Amino acid sequence: MAGMPAFSWTLANSILIISLSALISKLLLQAVVCWYLRRRASSRKITILARVKLEEAQYQLSASQSPKTDDGEWEKVEKHTAGSANNGGEADDEWEGTIGFFHPFCNAGGGGERVLWAAIKATQKRWPKAVCCVYTGDHEAGKYEILQRVQNRFNIELHPPTVVFLYLSTRHYVLSSTWPHFTLLGQSLGSIFLAFDAFSLLVPDIFIDTMGYAFVLAFSKFCFPKIPTGAYVHYPTISTDMLGSLDTSPALGNGLNAGTGKGLRGFLKKRYWHVFANLYSRVGGSVDIVMTNSSWTASHIRTLWGPVRTKRRKPHAVSVVFPPCAVDDIINAIPLNAQSEAKREPTVLYIAQFRPEKNHSLLLRSFARFLKSQSGLRKREEGPGLPKLVLIGSVRDASDATRVYELRLLAHELHLTPNHITFITDASFPTILSHLAAASVGANCMWNEHFGIGVVEYQAAGLIPVVNDSGGPKMDIVIAWEGGETGFKASTEEGYAERFAQVLGMDGEDRLEMRKRARGRARAFGEEEFEKRWIDEVGRLVEMVAEERK
Ligand SMILES: *[C@@H]1O[C@H](CO)[C@@H](O)[C@H](O)[C@H]1NC(C)=O
Ligand SMILES: *[C@@H]1O[C@H](CO)[C@@H](O)[C@H](O)[C@H]1NC(C)=O
Ligand SMILES: *[C@@H]1O[C@H](CO)[C@@H](O)[C@H](O)[C@H]1NC(C)=O
Repeated sequence: MAGMPAFSWTLANSILIISLSALISKLLLQAVVCWYLRRRASSRKITILARVKLEEAQYQLSASQSPKTDDGEWEKVEKHTAGSANNGGEADDEWEGTIGFFHPFCNAGGGGERVLWAAIKATQKRWPKAVCCVYTGDHEAGKYEILQRVQNRFNIELHPPTVVFLYLSTRHYVLSSTWPHFTLLGQSLGSIFLAFDAFSLLVPDIFIDTMGYAFVLAFSKFCFPKIPTGAYVHYPTISTDMLGSLDTSPALGNGLNAGTGKGLRGFLKKRYWHVFANLYSRVGGSVDIVMTNSSWTASHIRTLWGPVRTKRRKPHAVSVVFPPCAVDDIINAIPLNAQSEAKREPTVLYIAQFRPEKNHSLLLRSFARFLKSQSGLRKREEGPGLPKLVLIGSVRDASDATRVYELRLLAHELHLTPNHITFITDASFPTILSHLAAASVGANCMWNEHFGIGVVEYQAAGLIPVVNDSGGPKMDIVIAWEGGETGFKASTEEGYAERFAQVLGMDGEDRLEMRKRARGRARAFGEEEFEKRWIDEVGRLVEMVAEERK
């Protein structure tokens, strides 16, 4: 009998000892690792800042000697934002800190990189004295090569002196090939090596991850609790869909992992994913500012990170900062007024790659149904006022080409003649623009599109979108704006046919009003809006630094 209390006393004691030693080793680790990193990085910081100053001086000198370079452009840009600052007073225009951007694949030239460079440009405009340090693993490319590529690829011109590239030597730790098993966990833990690598190069005043390496941000908080952190999330590393998909049976599910939730393997896999999701949530709870690229991503991140963020009293909610789309070119090229309205043809335009999920066949069927419903039109084969369908899309390979062939057959079957339907494969930008200017309706038949940049382009051109009632088009794009609708949503063949009839039958003035609202909505995805939102969010981090220093 006496053994029991003694045993539980020992147990309690050992738990106490274990947790105490865990705490002590955490503190020790924190102290040693962070001391090491700080010490290594502080002298480097001085060197880096001195080099920036020198480069800036040289840049100013050469700018004053040759006023005909593009620097004039830069001056203009700088002035443009000097007055439009919406965070704090004049004083923090002068904010002179270092912002680390963690983006190990910065020279990749994809959508994620576009966001990175647009973000750096916005930062430079708002805080001209801040130094933007990009942690990258692209050793083969030097600073000016990368900046040149940014200019060519994205037409984004950065102010070179205040951009610094810090080269990581451990990027292979985040390649999926390094971790054939437990890839998610391996890559995430591997990213911590990169974080160590990064901080030994420089410990910045603000640290932002723009590639989705949340564990890196957690490491930053662990070592340097006072450095504010930000994340721009394109895609959750693990999504609630993935966790759900394991439970779906193969007959029902169309997810990648549907049905693999069975048996011992399935059980273990499920456990592993849940453990990982749990870790990911804790990690996300440490980030000060979280931006996401769409409502879809935001809702997943809120589900995963929200509870921990609330518990840790993170004051700033997960926000949506849409990546900048090039809507201005379209807006500037296409007028929107009574004359242009009179010139538009009753055409339904669908711009999409000829891929199966774009569901062109649904559009053909619903368009045929619509024609049939317009008594009198069906018989007429030509002449002005005949509604038309125009399909523009790129053909990547033989299977796309086959799909176009099949669609032509389908059109024939549905009695759609070349007067009713036009296929344009691999159109140039001017051709696309002329169709955007001439058509009336922009269609999108894909189900659950994450975003739908094509729909934004329709709106920018003043087309009235008719889209599937799902995904990004539903949540983010075709939403009420300035007191009215900006397009229509449909879910069935009949639904699309009815919406086409509705738009083409609208009173001209009402239709023009809707086009204008649609264009207004498209502006929300423009570069200016991106800059505003980015600066708002990063402004909070700058304030946190200022508060720390008080
Ligand atoms: C957000 O990022 C994901 C992953 O890169 C991408 O598929 C999606 O289209 C992006 N959303 C927007 C609004 O660009
Ligand atoms: C296309 O749409 C029809 C009608 O909604 C649907 O039955 C079909 O599954 C869709 N096809 C694809 C590939 O999404
Ligand atoms: C369109 O969206 C609805 C959900 O609103 C869905 O049930 C339907 O299958 C989708 N249609 C297509 C063509 O994918």
